[in-house]
Amino acid sequence: MTILVTGGLGYIGSHTVVELLNNNFDVVIVDDLSNSEKFILKNIEEVAGKKPVFYPFDLKRKELLSQVFDAHQIDGCINFAAYKAVGESQEKPLDYYENNLFTLINILQEFKKRNISNFIFSSSCTVYGQADEQPIHESTPLKTPESSYGKTKQMGEEILKDFATAYQKKVTLLRYFNPIGSHPSALLGELPLGIPNNLVPYVTQTASKIREKLSIWGNDYPTEDGTAIRDYIYVVDLAKAHVKALQKLLNETSETVIDIYNLGTGKGSSVLEVVGAFERANHVEVPYQICARRAGDITIAFANADKAERELGWKAETTLEEALRTTWEWQKYLESRS
Ligand code: UFG
Repeated sequence: MTILVTGGLGYIGSHTVVELLNNNFDVVIVDDLSNSEKFILKNIEEVAGKKPVFYPFDLKRKELLSQVFDAHQIDGCINFAAYKAVGESQEKPLDYYENNLFTLINILQEFKKRNISNFIFSSSCTVYGQADEQPIHESTPLKTPESSYGKTKQMGEEILKDFATAYQKKVTLLRYFNPIGSHPSALLGELPLGIPNNLVPYVTQTASKIREKLSIWGNDYPTEDGTAIRDYIYVVDLAKAHVKALQKLLNETSETVIDIYNLGTGKGSSVLEVVGAFERANHVEVPYQICARRAGDITIAFANADKAERELGWKAETTLEEALRTTWEWQKYLESRS
């Protein structure tokens, strides 16, 4: 089986490519390197002991995409390629809609034209907004996301549901909670692009003294320690869920499938708990200051991921501390390269 992985050199994409190769799938990556670097390809090969095919181009270039489908018998796609910075999406909404939705539609047009099924979409818990219930189930009502980024995820889901229904296709929407950590080999991880927005990359850079202090955005939330709560899921666990989801989709006998899964640990951790766990895991200090709340942040989001366990036989296995240990090893690797 040959799987097209768009954004396969990105953070979650690269970990998923390794898991696919380990499970004997052939992989064709399309990635424009807008948020990755070529050495990730070499590191994937080193970790998996196999070579994926790689095409460096922007998926908005329909004619190049079509050539990939001409050159390979594609059996399915996992679509990671997307812009993902929440704050940036507020400043450049058109870029986000254009990049995240046009590229999706271009791939789906090829699927339709060539009669291919099996599409897995990287969605996000952002589609739930500030949910009225915790933990969040797949049936928890969606709310309009605060950011244009979040809206592209919600629209992407809608496009895929219509696509599956109208053309009898098999589609899985995976709603990630907060992915963290790096590959145990320390050869794959999240590449920092400027000043990190997300908590764990910022904590890591503070521990390594690239940043002076972590700003904790608010300690007046209605939570036990006053800081906001999220569900931090280890990226390798997350990558494994994609393989399980793909295997289920390939084995489905119905022509039309629309599956939706939350991918999280089921456990919420506060910002202060993450900082404490990082310090304990890596025996380093993370200086911080308490600041005002960040605009658009919600108080709490954690998953009920029972459906994924029941239907995919998948469950998050890695503890927060273990995941944070791999992050630190990756940081040391990055520093050894520069
Ligand atoms: N935080 C800080 N200081 C920082 C960075 C983050 O205190 O320097 C806090 C945030 O306020 C939040 C928590 O840490 O309470 C987690 O923040 P992240 O930015 O790491 O993650 P978010 O939950 O805001 O965003 C993530 C993904 C998005 C996705 C969203 C859905 O990055 O892609 O979850 O809720 F849309």
